[in-house]
Amino acid sequence: MKDSEVKNICCIGAGYVGGPTMAVIADNCPSLKVNVVDINEERIKKWNEKDFDRLPIYEPGLAEIIKRCRNKNLFFSIDIKKHIESADMIFLSVNTPIKKSGLGKGQASDLKYIESSTREIAKYAKGETIIVEKSTLPVRTAETIKSILESNDKSFNNQKFSVLSNPEFLAEGTAINDLENPDRVLIGGENPEAITALEEIYVNWVDKNKILKTNLWSSELSKLVANAFLAQRISSINSISAICETTGADINEVSRAIGMDTRIGEKFLNAGPGYGGSCFKKDILNLVYLSKYYGLNEVASYWQKVVDLNVWQQHRIRKIIVKKLFNNLTSKKIGIMGFSFKANTNDTRESPAIQICKDLIEEGADLRIYDPKVNKFQIEKDLEQNQFNDNGEGSWTLCKSIKDIAIDADAIVIATEWEEFKSLDWSDISRLMRSPKWLFDTRGITNSKDIKQHNINYWKIGLGDSSSNIKFNF
Ligand code: UDX
Ligand code: ADP
Repeated sequence: MKDSEVKNICCIGAGYVGGPTMAVIADNCPSLKVNVVDINEERIKKWNEKDFDRLPIYEPGLAEIIKRCRNKNLFFSIDIKKHIESADMIFLSVNTPIKKSGLGKGQASDLKYIESSTREIAKYAKGETIIVEKSTLPVRTAETIKSILESNDKSFNNQKFSVLSNPEFLAEGTAINDLENPDRVLIGGENPEAITALEEIYVNWVDKNKILKTNLWSSELSKLVANAFLAQRISSINSISAICETTGADINEVSRAIGMDTRIGEKFLNAGPGYGGSCFKKDILNLVYLSKYYGLNEVASYWQKVVDLNVWQQHRIRKIIVKKLFNNLTSKKIGIMGFSFKANTNDTRESPAIQICKDLIEEGADLRIYDPKVNKFQIEKDLEQNQFNDNGEGSWTLCKSIKDIAIDADAIVIATEWEEFKSLDWSDISRLMRSPKWLFDTRGITNSKDIKQHNINYWKIGLGDSSSNIKFNF
């Protein structure tokens, strides 16, 4: 560090991790200067928007922090060189998508953004600098970062680097609360001074007992394992949702019954259309890749099954919708409630809604989509077709209200569990729809009695018909 105390922080990557994380650091550490940089000029422009409703990321509570800190001790900029030069500590929060080609295609993480940003650091950093891995990364990425940094001529700018792993456990939609009140903060590294410097930042708002220090590889691996365990819970409950539907049980009752066992716990037991988001699939596939690489084939196939089950669940739900609508969707109007991968975020990465919509369009349906936060351009990108597209298949339109998607709709599909979908007046909605009317609740947030009394046919995830006379042939 320039003089042992961290004063200037630079965060490379102004995305879903970098943006909220740096906002919370700036808010809790007024004496620190935090510069968030990105190569994406458009994104940085949006972070500097006067209208706080137009920030590039929607997270409850984020806009308020940006209002308090922006241009005081929190800055968003495209001047990567300048802010690397002046930084005592640099957070790497760039994206690490799954590789689309080459070795490890479809499984390993693409580290090209990590590599290019590390090269920028090697080029511009001055004096002692602590590099903090924030992005979710395969185990032993710190080693790659170190070797790029060490290949530089050391006398250049008097450079000295320490690399730490400090994985982010925030979940989108609750990011600010997760950052303000983390279950734990994990710091992996070898240099005690660098570890203390990072710890000093967190102790401004996090209890010291919650800060765990490990070696680099344990820290990197823990992040993958945490996500793998969470995703495994969802695949487990989703597999049981299918059993409930065929046997007449109710997944909500089963979740409650098992969740009250303190060894199991009640969280992450909501059945749904399969998990989405940028992390789960990528992290498990990383674990699979790592296991195969080390010849641990049984371990690899164990975790692969968690991903396979998720794909199966998504297909299963799409098939149910098509089948219930008489296998014919040509020119049928279908309302889609929610497009983001979960509530309270505008992020659509790996959202189950994408595949559901693509399939329904391919079947010829005319979709009316409503999401409180996702914009038209994102949906165009995800569905790979423009609004009102008329290519002989189905089409989609983004609507401004639930009423708009209900008008003349043959069916409504709840794809995301936004709060406002939980207390709708279904009598109003039913009046607008065309008979025979259908509701497909893939998130299990509605009440069957409430819906059926309004003359709407009903399918809900994990809800079997307990009155039906199912015969078991064991
Ligand atoms: C996840 C991890 O929770 C977080 O710790 C890590 O840092 C990043 O990955 P995120 O993907 O943002 O966070 O959201 P999360 O709340 O974990 O939800 C992921 C997906 O699982 C969503 O599609 C959500 O709808 C689904 N889910 C979650 C369920 O289907 N059922 C549940 O009970 C919980
Ligand atoms: P995450 O969910 O991990 O935060 P995002 O895609 O939301 O992922 O954000 C990552 C950000 O990192 C993007 O805005 C991207 O433009 C930025 N980025 C990628 N590579 C670089 C780089 N070399 N220098 C600066 N920013 C980068």
